[in-house]
Amino acid sequence: MPLSLLSIASEVFPLVKTGGLADVAGALPAALAAEGVQVLTFIPGYPAVLSAVGEAAIVAEYPALMGGAAVVRRAHAYGLDLLVLDAPHLFARDGNPYLGPDGKDWPDNALRFGAFSRVAADLAGGRRGNLAVDVVQAHDWQAALTGAYLHYDPPERRPAVVTTIHNLAFQGIFPAYLLGPLGLPADAFSVDALEYYGSISFLKAGVVFADRITTVSPSYAAEIMTPEGGMGFEGLLAGRSSDVSGILNGIDPDIWDPARDPHLAVPYSAADLAMRAGNKRALQSDLGLDPVPNAFLIGSVGRLTEQKGMDMLAAVLPNLIARGAQLALLGSGDLLLEKAFGALADHYPGRVGARIGYDESLAHRIEAGCDAFVMPSRFEPCGLTQMYALRYGAVPIVSRVGGLADTVIDANPYALEQGVATGFQFAAGSQGALAGALERAMSLHAEEPENWAQLQRNGMATDSSWSVAAKQYANLFRALVAKRA
Ligand code: ADP
Ligand code: GLC
Repeated sequence: MPLSLLSIASEVFPLVKTGGLADVAGALPAALAAEGVQVLTFIPGYPAVLSAVGEAAIVAEYPALMGGAAVVRRAHAYGLDLLVLDAPHLFARDGNPYLGPDGKDWPDNALRFGAFSRVAADLAGGRRGNLAVDVVQAHDWQAALTGAYLHYDPPERRPAVVTTIHNLAFQGIFPAYLLGPLGLPADAFSVDALEYYGSISFLKAGVVFADRITTVSPSYAAEIMTPEGGMGFEGLLAGRSSDVSGILNGIDPDIWDPARDPHLAVPYSAADLAMRAGNKRALQSDLGLDPVPNAFLIGSVGRLTEQKGMDMLAAVLPNLIARGAQLALLGSGDLLLEKAFGALADHYPGRVGARIGYDESLAHRIEAGCDAFVMPSRFEPCGLTQMYALRYGAVPIVSRVGGLADTVIDANPYALEQGVATGFQFAAGSQGALAGALERAMSLHAEEPENWAQLQRNGMATDSSWSVAAKQYANLFRALVAKRA
């Protein structure tokens, strides 16, 4: 029997994206459909979303939703069955969905995403919109109050609640006086509910009021129950360890396919790896790098933040440049890191190309043109860009943590000998280990081209599609529904 799921996500590719959550929320519905799970995706009505769906039919109306009138629209776009929260007072703001023009969080983010979760609970519980939903999947803190609303204001038919943690670093922490404006009772300010070190945490509610908690890789699921990786949530999560599981993300094989990628200068497949050279040349020219065909070209795409360990990359770069390497970087984030990479590009013209900003097309071209793709993350719940690298024949160099540990097989002598290696791993958080891994990769690239090509072919043959994960999610959802029947 088909099962219906309401997926609640604050970003969904290609409508609005700041990172991997959007890719996941955009790709999972089609994969779940193949497993008999019908997905409705609920998303805030940012300007980009509303202009993509047009004047779609209204399925629910709110004369007063946390400070203004709102409606829910139902639309189909990009193969997604969408419910859109059209609440101009909360979401009619251009640019990044979470940050204002000053680069800081919008001051009313608690109410924006509180309202989003409130409406999600109403829709899922059948109070509005006339929908029958078996399970809700609340992604990250922005959706995490859904379970709290279903708990404090129970509908006749409560759906099962799954909270999916994409990144424990973002916990949705706000002052406790907001409970009233959020429409939650005063007794929600309790250690067994939303209270978190004197404030309230949306994500904590997501954990407390969920039937199951998932995260995006098995290793990260284990890490978040430890003091080193739990970011204050370790006790809470360990207390529910039998309800916590890690389901490794997949990638969208149509959007990330080097043989059919419209962004590339030269499409290619594992059978004609030599064609990558054309993409390398194009990338070098794009970013003002010297057109040296055999220079070791390191690629990087992502948020420039502490999480991603980009400060360590900046620190080890001069040594690599001295040995002939090049860097092609695309990213944005912390101002200091943006400046640091800008300065490196100025200091090493022709050797370091840094594009500060967001550019979907360049992200594809870096994956296709670089020799190695580096991710020195201090923690990484899953990471998608290393999986894109595998599929594009760029050899990933990653720290041994979270989803990176789960997706890359280190080229140690044994794995090379067995012919199973796909990349390089090193101890997370260590600049020395990062430098060592980069040198190891650079030597293999220069001295053992056959082994290097084997890494590329192995990576390209890795199955990173969503089908495995979709089966795991579908089984989990079905088990929850069976339990309550
Ligand atoms: P995270 O979600 O932690 O940022 P992921 O590796 O899961 O990391 O996903 C990042 C996604 O965002 C990928 O699709 C990546 O290509 C994309 N991305 C990140 N930064 C940029 C950027 N500056 N320009 C274009 N795409 C980017
Ligand atoms: C988060 C994590 C990243 C993960 C993505 C999608 O943004 O930082 O590791 O791949 O979510 O689940």
